[in-house]
Amino acid sequence: MRYLFILGREPKLSLVELESVFGAKNLQLLAPHIALVDTKRPVKLERLGGCLKVAQVLDQPLSSFLASQPAGKLTLGVSDYSHRATAHASWQLALKHKNLLRRHGRNVRLVPNRTSPIVSSAAAHHNQLGEKLNHLEIIKYQKLFASSIGTQNITAYAKRDQARPARDAFVGMLPPKLAQILVNLAVGDQQSGLLLDPFCGTGVILQEASLMGFAVYGSDLSKKMVNYSRRNLSWLSEQKPALLAPVKLEVGDATSHHWQPLPNFIASEIFLGRPLSRTPSKTQLLQLQHEARELLSGFLRNLANQLPTSTTIALAIPAWKRPDGSYLGIPNLLDEIEKLGYNAKKYRYASHDELLYHRENQVVARQIIVLRKK
Ligand SMILES: C[S@@+](CC[C@H](N)C(=O)[O-])C[C@H]1O[C@@H](n2cnc3c(N)ncnc32)[C@H](O)[C@@H]1O
Repeated sequence: MRYLFILGREPKLSLVELESVFGAKNLQLLAPHIALVDTKRPVKLERLGGCLKVAQVLDQPLSSFLASQPAGKLTLGVSDYSHRATAHASWQLALKHKNLLRRHGRNVRLVPNRTSPIVSSAAAHHNQLGEKLNHLEIIKYQKLFASSIGTQNITAYAKRDQARPARDAFVGMLPPKLAQILVNLAVGDQQSGLLLDPFCGTGVILQEASLMGFAVYGSDLSKKMVNYSRRNLSWLSEQKPALLAPVKLEVGDATSHHWQPLPNFIASEIFLGRPLSRTPSKTQLLQLQHEARELLSGFLRNLANQLPTSTTIALAIPAWKRPDGSYLGIPNLLDEIEKLGYNAKKYRYASHDELLYHRENQVVARQIIVLRKK
């Protein structure tokens, strides 16, 4: 079956996530924010951090698809993602189908999108388009028509992010969506196994991996952080009693710790250094790069002695804003990583330099790298 995916705010990251889960050969980039995936696997948007909407491509004309919906009132949104789409044309298309359906006696409520050719993800989510019987969103891209099977659940993300009992502003809050992306980059198409986060902090990656069905193992240099992870994971299991309990949570310096049992995957956000409010000077930047390199290479050297070949490691590491607005990470990092016994994973749709996640005005961005033990 073919699906249209509407990519999120960092489309390159969304794309490599799709490439990791569905394979490059099944993925086609149609436009900067739209990808087409051909797969027989079940598609679950709630397992993907980087996509806003997913829709199944129709194999029949739109009018017969709409006419074949179960009896009852229809709630319908139309989003046209084509290059030259206009709000007017998109609304006219919605009206045309509303009138056609009315002639067949169907009651239709249109979800308004008068100022844009697309229904926003927030409006699609609040109207439960694609998620509830007879609540449809038609997604059009050029000549393709698809019917939404879900929109990113912003309410559930906000709840997971904000209602966790143990939070710490200093270690920074990894957004749950980015945690999901890291997990998917590490696990690929696998559905089970043990995932380790050796810089687990407050446990966002462990939480998301656990919700995605993985057994989790966390360690951190700080006892306080290990306790935070423990509190957050036990809070999550109160909400969702079916979740697996963490295999282990322990204090450990990632540059010397021995992990037992050995994990099948690693996803982690290493220490990003102290939060910065201004772009660092050249001297400060050299110091920050040096510290991050020391920590990362110490960790990877230690890990290389323990991991079996082919284990995948997805990491968020720091990159710093430069006065010209670009971001710079740790120089020549990938060459050094090769020497430590890893291959940097290559993606068809993005290079590692492009895999950045940051909010506007953030001085320290997260760069995403994915490695495989040689
Ligand atoms: C950026 S935070 C990770 C935040 C985490 N993703 C979360 O969900 O809260 C980095 C963590 O690395 C830990 N850390 C720093 N140096 C470490 C080391 N050498 N070994 C293990 N953990 C370390 C810090 O205590 C901190 O919790």
